[in-house]
Amino acid sequence: KVQSQQAPMSSRVPHVLLVSAPLQGHVNPLLVLGRHLASRGLLVTFSTAPHGGLKFGHGDGSTVDFGRGTIRFEHLKGGALWASDDPRYHDAMDVLRHLEETAPPVLAELIRGQSEAGRAVSCVVANAFAPWASRVASGMGVPHAMLWTESCAVLSLFYHYFHSLADFPSREAGPGAMVAVPGLPPLAAGDLPALIHAPEEIMWRQVLIADLRSLRETVTWVLLNTFDELERPTIEALRPHLPVIPVGPLCSGTESHGSGGHDDDDSVAWLDAQPPRSVVFVAFGSLLQISRDEMSELAAGLAATGRPFLLVVRDDNRELLPDDCLAAAAGSNRGKVVAWCEQARVLAHGAVGCFVTHCGWNSTVEALASGVPVVTYPAWADQPTNAKFLADVYGVGVRLPKPMARDALRRCIEEVMGGPEAVAVLARSAKWKAEASAALSTGGSLDKGIQEFVAAIL
Ligand code: UDX
Repeated sequence: KVQSQQAPMSSRVPHVLLVSAPLQGHVNPLLVLGRHLASRGLLVTFSTAPHGGLKFGHGDGSTVDFGRGTIRFEHLKGGALWASDDPRYHDAMDVLRHLEETAPPVLAELIRGQSEAGRAVSCVVANAFAPWASRVASGMGVPHAMLWTESCAVLSLFYHYFHSLADFPSREAGPGAMVAVPGLPPLAAGDLPALIHAPEEIMWRQVLIADLRSLRETVTWVLLNTFDELERPTIEALRPHLPVIPVGPLCSGTESHGSGGHDDDDSVAWLDAQPPRSVVFVAFGSLLQISRDEMSELAAGLAATGRPFLLVVRDDNRELLPDDCLAAAAGSNRGKVVAWCEQARVLAHGAVGCFVTHCGWNSTVEALASGVPVVTYPAWADQPTNAKFLADVYGVGVRLPKPMARDALRRCIEEVMGGPEAVAVLARSAKWKAEASAALSTGGSLDKGIQEFVAAIL
């Protein structure tokens, strides 16, 4: 419920300023973290730099009251930043580059403004991939935490790699070469996060290295979107190196992210009319671009299963979708294609039987928390590692080889929905759903993590 009035302010209540680069996979978990902090009575302000490519319904100056607390939105804005509808800033890399150059003084001004308004910031929580926010907070003497938006396993891999704490295979060693890192199962080079062996000039890699530097030099706490049961050995192995606090799973479940969607998204109503566990849900996050060939194999593979499907094709990929796929979906009412949906609510719907995913960490956590078996199709970043864990460590799905091929897709979907292994896969999915639910309950992993963090701020 969006309210026009300001949240109640008190100088004695700790004030947490949440700052995020405007990337969907980063804004979403930070917003959920904000809800948990506000529901414990903290004053919470959320700040990002919304642009046309971001699904985000909370405008500058608005507040959202979600029943147990209130979050106020005060965005990064000003001459150096962009107009929210400027199409030049729809590309994630341009956004990061531009923010690196322009956001620091704007954020500093925002922090000063809070003090002048009598609500001095007690702590800044900035997302990973916004190292400028850490620098600004530390330069102003404000304690700050980073919310790491990927798995603890991936953080540990980066940490060990960039600090030369384990023997990693060289770029030339090939995808089968193995690496052993404390707290992690043996991993093949092909399962490592793509940025480890990416060319040094790639900007994401440079931002990541800046992040890791700030983790050691300026960050007071590293909050993790994970929970004890999911990654306990990895979290414990990283504790001597970094002040980590698991505060996940940061997924909104049946509550809306409020991240703004398409007004015409009626996915949940459509799912209501489908039989239990019948629907194949396909979504590849907010950034991934797939090729025309992949899209046509995907469409043909879905058709070949004979099962109902809900397919998210973002507007920027829409022209890749074969016309006959759309026509077949519309004609039979067996399939539905949307430009965006409330994914966490879709995954929590009982009609969804399997999730074909690119394995972004938010999608991974949302799938586990919903107990939905997966077919993994990772592309880059942390996705190969998440795919490895989903299939081989958590045991909730199968890996679809690249490039996308219709027969392989159909076989993988059958394997998790109807084949001889499907019952075991579903049982393991249900186990992870129960673990996530325990982590979310009073006294669970999330509760303990948030309490630890709030106590530290206090
Ligand atoms: C990026 C990286 O690509 C990913 O590898 C990293 O782990 C996090 O940052 P993204 O690709 O967008 O994220 O994937 P993901 O982490 O899964 O986040 C997407 C978010 O958008 C999820 O919270 C998902 O629920 C939401 N979403 C996606 C929707 O709400 N509706 C959709 O239709 C699609």
